[in-house]
Amino acid sequence: MIKIRDLQSVDINEILALADVQLGEKYITVDDLSACNVIVAEDADWQKCVGFCLSYIGQNGDAYVRTVAVSNDYSGQGIGTALIAKSVEYLKGIGAKKIMSPLWKHDGIVNSDVVFRRNGFLPVREIPDYWYADSLEKGYSCPVCGKGCHCTCVMYELAMDN
Ligand SMILES: CC(C)(COP(=O)(O)OP(=O)(O)OC[C@H]1O[C@@H](n2cnc3c(N)ncnc32)[C@H](O)[C@@H]1OP(=O)(O)O)[C@@H](O)C(=O)NCCC(=O)NCCS
Repeated sequence: MIKIRDLQSVDINEILALADVQLGEKYITVDDLSACNVIVAEDADWQKCVGFCLSYIGQNGDAYVRTVAVSNDYSGQGIGTALIAKSVEYLKGIGAKKIMSPLWKHDGIVNSDVVFRRNGFLPVREIPDYWYADSLEKGYSCPVCGKGCHCTCVMYELAMDN
């Protein structure tokens, strides 16, 4: 059974390992986990973290779902969609009126397009080299480009009507 729940300290190493595989080595750090609200998907039978979603409110007050990742062994079970839904619920609960998410596009495809659309997000603009400076400064690798990420971001938005 899959449980969607808040972060526990036992999850941290599993999240970092999953992030290294799914999002690129060192893209997510312990500091990122402290700075964000973290929603976790746990396989309760094995007491194992199989997915996570990070969200936060930026300094300018804008709300973001920063990223979502699910282990390949658990893909296609609705876990990514459920993690985003829970993060949206959290951001909405603390007053967000609009939520943005910078999604990774490569080979013309945004992998996570479906899971964000299922939560009501729509693409609004493209930003080339979105992660380039940040990836050099923080030293993380992109799964496609390696060091110095030249991937384009497609910014998705969810506007709340209440
Ligand atoms: C994108 C991701 C979070 C989806 O998680 P998930 O638990 O499999 O998602 P769900 O089961 O809720 O939805 C699955 C849908 O997503 C789509 N999808 C999943 N992986 C995809 C991929 N690699 N390419 C294109 N579409 C994909 C499919 O349309 C699928 O729909 P279907 O099951 O009806 O065929 C997961 O594949 C992942 O971690 N990918 C690598 C990391 C990543 O790209 N994260 C987003 C960075 S912003």
